[in-house]
Amino acid sequence: MDLNEAIHARRAVRSYLPETVDEASIRLLLRAATQAPSAMNAQPWAFVIVQDKARLARYSDRAKAALLAKSAGDPKAERYRQMLSDPKFNIFYDASTLIVICADQSGAYAQADCWLAAQNLQLAAVASGLGTCCIGFALPTLNEAEVKAELAIPQRMGAIAALIVGKPRGQPEPVPRKEPAVLSWLR
Ligand SMILES: Cc1cc2nc3c(=O)[nH]c(=O)nc-3n(C[C@H](O)[C@H](O)[C@H](O)COP(=O)(O)O)c2cc1C
Repeated sequence: MDLNEAIHARRAVRSYLPETVDEASIRLLLRAATQAPSAMNAQPWAFVIVQDKARLARYSDRAKAALLAKSAGDPKAERYRQMLSDPKFNIFYDASTLIVICADQSGAYAQADCWLAAQNLQLAAVASGLGTCCIGFALPTLNEAEVKAELAIPQRMGAIAALIVGKPRGQPEPVPRKEPAVLSWLR
C-alpha cells in the first residue's frame, strides 16, 4: 500500500475483533509515531499502552459519568448525552488496546507534536491491517490525577492524544469530505 492509499483508506474504526494486538505490532506503530516532525526536534512524546479490557471498561464508565455531568443542560451535547447514558456503550468500542500519547505540556508545540505522532501511528496502522480511532472523550479522565498515577504518567506530563487500536471488524464507510476551502492563492 502506498502512502496516498493509506491516507485515503484510513477510517475511524469503531468495531473490532476480540484478539489482542501483539507487542511487535505495537512497537512498529510507536516507531512510526516517533518519526513525526516535532518543533525544534523536541520529540516530547511518551506512550502509555493499556491492554487490560477491565481497566478500559472502568475508564470508559468514569469518562461517561464525567462527560454527562459536565454537559448537563447543554442542548448542543444532546446527541452525545444519549449515547453516553447507554450503560452498554464503551467509549473505547471494546478495542483491545489503547495508546495514549503524553508530553510535558509546557512546550509551546507539544500538542501539535503529539497529534502529528498520532497521525503517523494511524497511517502505519492502516498499512499493518489495523484500525484506529482517536478517543477525545477519554482525555479528561486520562488527565485526572488518580488515573495519571495509575498509568505512571508523571505529574508534569499530560495525556494529549488517545487512540484505540485493533483488528477491524469490517471496513467502515468513508465519511464525506468537504472540498478544500482555499481562502486565497496568490500568484
Ligand atoms: C481529536 C479527535 C477526537 C476524536 N474523538 C472521538 C471520540 O471520542 N469518539 C469517537 O468515536 N470518534 C472520535 N474521533 C473520530 C472522528 O469522529 C472521526 O475521525 C471523524 O468523524 C471522521 O471520520 P474518519 O476518521 O473515518 O474519516 C475523534 C477524532 C479526532 C481527530
